[in-house]
Amino acid sequence: MIILGIETSCDETAAAVLEQKSGRIQILSNIVASSASLQSKYGGIIPEQAAREQIKSIIPVITEALEQAKIKSENLDAIAVTYGPGLIGSLLVGVETAKVLAKVWSKPLIPVNHLIGHFYANWISTETPTFPCIGLLVSGGHTDLVLFTAHGKYEYLGGTRDDAAGECFDKCARLLGLPYPGGPQISKHAKEGKPLFNLPRPMEHSKDLDFSFSGLKTAVNNLLVASRQDPEQLSNLCASIEEAIIDILGKKTIAAAKTHMVEQIIVAGGVAANLKLAERLTAEAQTTLPRSGKVFIPPPYLCTDNGAMIAAAAFFIKPTKDINSIQADPNLSLSY
Ligand code: KG4
Ligand code: ZN
Repeated sequence: MIILGIETSCDETAAAVLEQKSGRIQILSNIVASSASLQSKYGGIIPEQAAREQIKSIIPVITEALEQAKIKSENLDAIAVTYGPGLIGSLLVGVETAKVLAKVWSKPLIPVNHLIGHFYANWISTETPTFPCIGLLVSGGHTDLVLFTAHGKYEYLGGTRDDAAGECFDKCARLLGLPYPGGPQISKHAKEGKPLFNLPRPMEHSKDLDFSFSGLKTAVNNLLVASRQDPEQLSNLCASIEEAIIDILGKKTIAAAKTHMVEQIIVAGGVAANLKLAERLTAEAQTTLPRSGKVFIPPPYLCTDNGAMIAAAAFFIKPTKDINSIQADPNLSLSY
């Protein structure tokens, strides 16, 4: 089975062709055009501009994905597309393009929740997760914990009450004068420093599986005012921010696995590209979960937004009968 996956929820225009053969999912092509460097000039994403860039890139990106995969439209079994959540202008470009292609090429269309798509990057591998497993989604817009019991079956366990983990990285980076996206920048500087600053771990001891990151950003701002932005302390501050965010994510994820007696954890979203998070979760799962718990984290290029994860998820979802009923939904979530 061969699926074309289209992803345009934010500032990446992405398309990929994936094949499922003997139960194994393989990437034939994976094209991502990003307007992130354009957005970084403004320290964040301007939705109108992101949508305009999507319109410019969508057809060239899909064409390149098919060419690189050496697949003609007639060889496709289905088209999959992100229908939410995300920026409405960006989502509309992908959804409407996919609907037109599905009609013109007479292909089934599979709408994919972007958040679920992130998790399915873990199925593009020789070793894939088994159920039940805990899913930790950590991206620029989301920080959620879910319990997966089967394909398409999950229970929402908790999530952030304010900023997402990636948003916290991005906002702290902005305070420090570092470009967008902030996560990789903070990580880079953190390598040169030590976590010498005592930053808070909001909701660390709360009994639920919720998170809060906005207080951390405020604490960083207060430290900056106090230290008058001493440039020599930049690396130490970055190391402290990274450690605080990872500490909270690690503790709550392991707590979720223990509460639900689950041995496997799947991590997804842009922040999953953070190597310290991978090290921390893997080490803790091995020592504290039964049967040396296993942590699945996709390679960094499949953690940030891409079309491959959307196609991968689509292998486990039935196509929607009425193509016209598929609508972009910017507010789609995991919690309802
Ligand atoms: O999943 P994603 O590409 O887009 C959304 O759907 O939000 O995630 C983007 C987020 C940004 O906040 C970015 O700063 C963060 O992922 N990120 C990282 C790293 N790489 C990307 N955060 C921490 N460490 C990284 N290495
Ligand atoms: Zn994403």
